[in-house]
Amino acid sequence: MKFVEELDLKGRTVFLRVDFNVPQDEKGAVRDDTRIRASLATINFILERGGRLILASHLGRPKGKANPKYSLAPATYRLAEIIPNRVVQAPDVIGPQVESLKGGLGNGEVLALENVRFYPGEEANDPGFAAELARGVDIYVNDAFGSCHRAHASVDALARLVKVKAAGYLLKREVDYLSRAVRNPDKPYVAILGGAKVEDKIPVMENLIHKADEILVGGAMAYTFFKAQGYDVGKSLVEEDKKAIALAILEKARIANVKLRLPVDHVVATAIEAGAVTQIVNGFPFPSGQIGVDIGPETISLYAEAIGRAKTIVWNGPMGVFEIDAFAAGTMKIAQAVASSKAVSIVGGGDSVAAVHKAGVADRISHISTGGGASLEYLAYETLPGIEALE
Ligand code: 3PG
Repeated sequence: MKFVEELDLKGRTVFLRVDFNVPQDEKGAVRDDTRIRASLATINFILERGGRLILASHLGRPKGKANPKYSLAPATYRLAEIIPNRVVQAPDVIGPQVESLKGGLGNGEVLALENVRFYPGEEANDPGFAAELARGVDIYVNDAFGSCHRAHASVDALARLVKVKAAGYLLKREVDYLSRAVRNPDKPYVAILGGAKVEDKIPVMENLIHKADEILVGGAMAYTFFKAQGYDVGKSLVEEDKKAIALAILEKARIANVKLRLPVDHVVATAIEAGAVTQIVNGFPFPSGQIGVDIGPETISLYAEAIGRAKTIVWNGPMGVFEIDAFAAGTMKIAQAVASSKAVSIVGGGDSVAAVHKAGVADRISHISTGGGASLEYLAYETLPGIEALE
């Protein structure tokens, strides 16, 4: 995979796929510009080298139709506040108006396309749509790690079509950290997996069983593992249809001699709401009607010990319903343990990233991934469509 620094950009028209899929408020203003800022190194580099920049991204899921609710104009507006006087918003993604704007681009100027998902060809990975995107383009650069698990036209078909292509700074950094974790981790390698659903974590668990030394499980997904083994978890969230696969994963971990650890104690509550009465329980059955909402103190200290021994840590998914303060201790303490460890630590997934920010430890994490689904899929499959298309 080439890196943008290796290319001659002067006077070239560069199509840069970014991930400006940013959260907006009710009025459509950008609520969190982290992903815009994360692309600035690449944007500035291309502009400083005299490239003519076409920016493209998706936003939300407009299902192949133009819809002002999903316009990228607010994101472009935010970018234009950061790099003034250079950015023009195109009214569309392809078509004659866009072609003429592309033709008028000068060195060091930016044309921001509309949402690529306004066309069905994007998600269909349609080569015809990719050919439209490629009009007038000399170089393709991908800096949209968060979208690299989508084999969509602006990520995959277009990258295959344009001969000169490279990764931007953001994508390179993501791949550098994540590839080291999957290919050559310093041991012990400890993975922390949480969140609501086993379903989302099956492929990553299947892979980690062959890579990690310990897998620490928290969040509601733990209750599917317990229920599958016949324990009474009260009214905790359980994916009944994933019990068989949960048992199979436990068995594979046993055979592979990987420590797949489940919580030994739990914070339970009568309802998932602020102010609900909580108690700590050490085993099963849960008191009648109770819901597991966090890992308990004994689990926190066992997991923190494992984290302390680790040389490589990946974390995806919170340990409990940390949005509610009374159920947040497990996730906050795990965030602090990860931040205090000397390991290379990689945190991915919107909730775990929010958790390290809430715990105030984000600056002590080696790498915070900009991609939730993408970082999980990379850890599961060791590559992504958007990365393969660049190779
Ligand atoms: C993300 O926000 O995770 C990426 O931008 C991908 O978005 P998607 O799940 O709509 O493809």
